[in-house]
Amino acid sequence: MKSEEKLLVRVLQGKPAERIPFWFMRQAGRYLAEYRELRAKNRNFLEFCYNPEMAAEATLQPIRRFGMDGAIIFSDILVIPHALGMHVWFEEQKGPRLDPVQTQKVLEGLKPAQERLEPVYQAIRNTRAQLPEETAMIGFAGSPWTLACYVVEGGSSKDFQRVCDTATRDRPFFTQLIDRLAQAVTQHAMAQIEAGAEIIQLFDSWAGVLDAQAFDDWIIAPTQRIVHTLKERHPHVPVIGFPRQAKEGYIAYAKKTGVNAISLDQSVSLNWARQALPEPIVRQGNLDPVLLAEDKSAMIKAAGEIIAAWGDKPFVFNLGHGILPHTPVAHVQALCDFLKTA
Ligand code: CP3
Repeated sequence: MKSEEKLLVRVLQGKPAERIPFWFMRQAGRYLAEYRELRAKNRNFLEFCYNPEMAAEATLQPIRRFGMDGAIIFSDILVIPHALGMHVWFEEQKGPRLDPVQTQKVLEGLKPAQERLEPVYQAIRNTRAQLPEETAMIGFAGSPWTLACYVVEGGSSKDFQRVCDTATRDRPFFTQLIDRLAQAVTQHAMAQIEAGAEIIQLFDSWAGVLDAQAFDDWIIAPTQRIVHTLKERHPHVPVIGFPRQAKEGYIAYAKKTGVNAISLDQSVSLNWARQALPEPIVRQGNLDPVLLAEDKSAMIKAAGEIIAAWGDKPFVFNLGHGILPHTPVAHVQALCDFLKTA
């Protein structure tokens, strides 16, 4: 089937459809027994991501079980800093770690290792070869701001104070860092499309920590450049932006960046999103992953309300953030069954 005939692609292009398509962030992962079994064969998370057979298998696992309309390639946003030559590793229970990059000198001394990303593209080709023909292949990247958060802090952080300080105190360095990351994101997204990705999602998980001016400088402007370059080469590949917890910032993001669709986190009210976001932006979202994990009947009720709120507008059902590791598989199954008949 051609990309433009697939339900998820059609809806992201703003076209009418017979049913609301769905997929979930972190649909592959630890809540699935078959993922835990596969993952046990490689304890090193980055090596696991860079194994094209294992990554394709992890991508396909949820599709086999639940038949989502999109398959997001199994990888991580931190493969980009890794390919720029940074030292990246994952510690069990602690999450990602990086040797922090906080000065222009260190940034300029990095030796890019672009070839580190080759296995991601091979994993996309392997996945495409095994995917049901109606399922769309989703590629992704972290956005420059969220990548910069991890790069400057050296890992996760409660409030990302250090990266916010750095962005104001050392503007030349931070501008250069964002530019490098934006270039790498563009290249990575382009190469994923060339390997078979039919949709790109940009994850800006820490968009919520910036004030309005910084949001313009470090999120809107680089995202605009990335989307513009992608659209020059691949005008029909939809781009979904996810400036998580951006609140009012969602409006500027939807107006200015050129993305086709915007992924809403669970804090966004449906009424607000209906009225405040400019047409013809497509919405995606926003069931609370905590509700999915905790309470099956309340979750189905909430899913029904989300669907009712969108009426006939082009809409993609998703969560407000990723599936949590302790989510019962039966809840995900119930949600998928519900969505297929909704
Ligand atoms: O199914 C999918 O969504 C595709 C795969 C995917 C992963 N990470 C796999 C993963 C995607 C799209 C991501 C994106 C990602 N990675 C983001 C943006 C989305 C978000 O969650 O806000 C971020 C911030 C990261 C960085 C990252 N990777 C963190 C903070 C962690 C640790 C948290 C955790 O859940 O352990 C990871 C590790 C990671 N990435 C796992 C998975 C399945 C868990 C690792 C494991 O199997 O032990």
